[in-house]
Amino acid sequence: MVEQAAQETGGFIRGMRESGNGLLLRICSIAAIGGLLFGYDTGVISGALLYIKDDLHAGKLAQEWIVSSLLVGAIVGAVLSGYLADAISRKWTKVISGCVYVVGALGCAFAMSVPMLIGFRFVLGLSVGTASFVAPLYISEVSPPRVRGGLVSFNQLAVTCGILISYLVNFAFKDVDNGWRWMLGVAVIPGAVLAVGMLTVPHTPRWLMSRGREDEARGVLDELRSDDPDADVEQEIEDIKEANRTEGAATVADLVKPKIRPLLWVGIGLAVFQQFVGINTVIYYAPTILADTGLTKSSSVTQTVFVGVTNVVFTIIAVLLLDRVGRRTLLLTGTICLTLSLILLAVYFTSSTLQQDAPYLALVALLLYIASFAVGLGPVFWLMISEIFPVGVRSKAMSVSTVANWGANLLVASTFLTLGSAITRQGTFYLYAGLGILAIVFFAARVPETKGRTLEDIQADLTGASESRG
Ligand code: BGC
Repeated sequence: MVEQAAQETGGFIRGMRESGNGLLLRICSIAAIGGLLFGYDTGVISGALLYIKDDLHAGKLAQEWIVSSLLVGAIVGAVLSGYLADAISRKWTKVISGCVYVVGALGCAFAMSVPMLIGFRFVLGLSVGTASFVAPLYISEVSPPRVRGGLVSFNQLAVTCGILISYLVNFAFKDVDNGWRWMLGVAVIPGAVLAVGMLTVPHTPRWLMSRGREDEARGVLDELRSDDPDADVEQEIEDIKEANRTEGAATVADLVKPKIRPLLWVGIGLAVFQQFVGINTVIYYAPTILADTGLTKSSSVTQTVFVGVTNVVFTIIAVLLLDRVGRRTLLLTGTICLTLSLILLAVYFTSSTLQQDAPYLALVALLLYIASFAVGLGPVFWLMISEIFPVGVRSKAMSVSTVANWGANLLVASTFLTLGSAITRQGTFYLYAGLGILAIVFFAARVPETKGRTLEDIQADLTGASESRG
């Protein structure tokens, strides 16, 4: 019910102990493997490329295409799966995404030429773009409100673990013959686990209800809420029904209707700012940035592992805090600290005295940057877009926001090195800091708090449907 909206939230662990059960944890963990694939591919290419360029004789342009064909594939994948997730269900879309991933990873591992590698990186991208938003979508639709923030952010935690694992795999295979083929090929394992694992999970109750399969939806909810003494399955069914009645099934044209448009701006704003603060320049180029401070190649690669570990540790902290302190607080605090660390990086690269007397400052600033991203913008973007849209438009609106995110990712990644030559490295960090300030203003003005409320309540509130629903 709308009036029952805000539920007491006492943190993720207590919430899971009191309202979660083994099944919920298992299916959310399986769904989050999509995030692992996303993170692995984000991180693996930086190391693999060093060897690919010699083995396949790839020039600069070819290397750029090897990196960005995945991003282009992800954009296409995110568009297609916006339809698939409604038409054939969230569950089957994820099964297919796991299978496509296996094909892509095998193709990359056995690629005999640059065009073949670019083609299979595109195929991988189709799967990664799909997984990147269908995982949070699936998890948000099966989770009870009081632990939804933490559970959906399992996905972001998996992204960061994927990045870290890829750094470690790169390290493990760096001296092995054909090492890059192994680096790209081992990803077959999580891809296959995702495809098979998703066969064992139920459909989401919200998707079932949107297809008129109420009895099945009730069955799934009964199972998922079986250990929660406060759960009221009939009420949850009624709320979903009511939300479906108010919104109905929607088309892409409905996304620009006056009720939905402001929400779409929030989704797109979060998507674009998540990338415009430069996160992937750090993920892709951390060793380059550190090497510019005078470190040897080998110590910059080692220090990059610190960046990966910090990302994981602070995402765990976010999982524990999102349902306690709320999304907005973490988003705003995280983005403020992130902007300050960008200014610190810019000042560091401007001052030769600092570079001489305090060379460790660059690493400190990078770690502060990654920690701030990991508690705020990293998880909150994917979480928010799974919460703010009404079910009728949810998958399409998430797909649009995801396309904006991958598009912005492509733009930033492909301009970082050029920007460095044009306006200097410090100029680039000042630019990202300026965008960070714009992001803070936008978040403060437009992003709502969604902690502890049902998806139906959130949408009723944001679209003004609460009055009509009484
Ligand atoms: C972003 C990715 C980024 C990752 C880093 C995700 O939320 O969407 O682009 O590489 O976080 O942890």
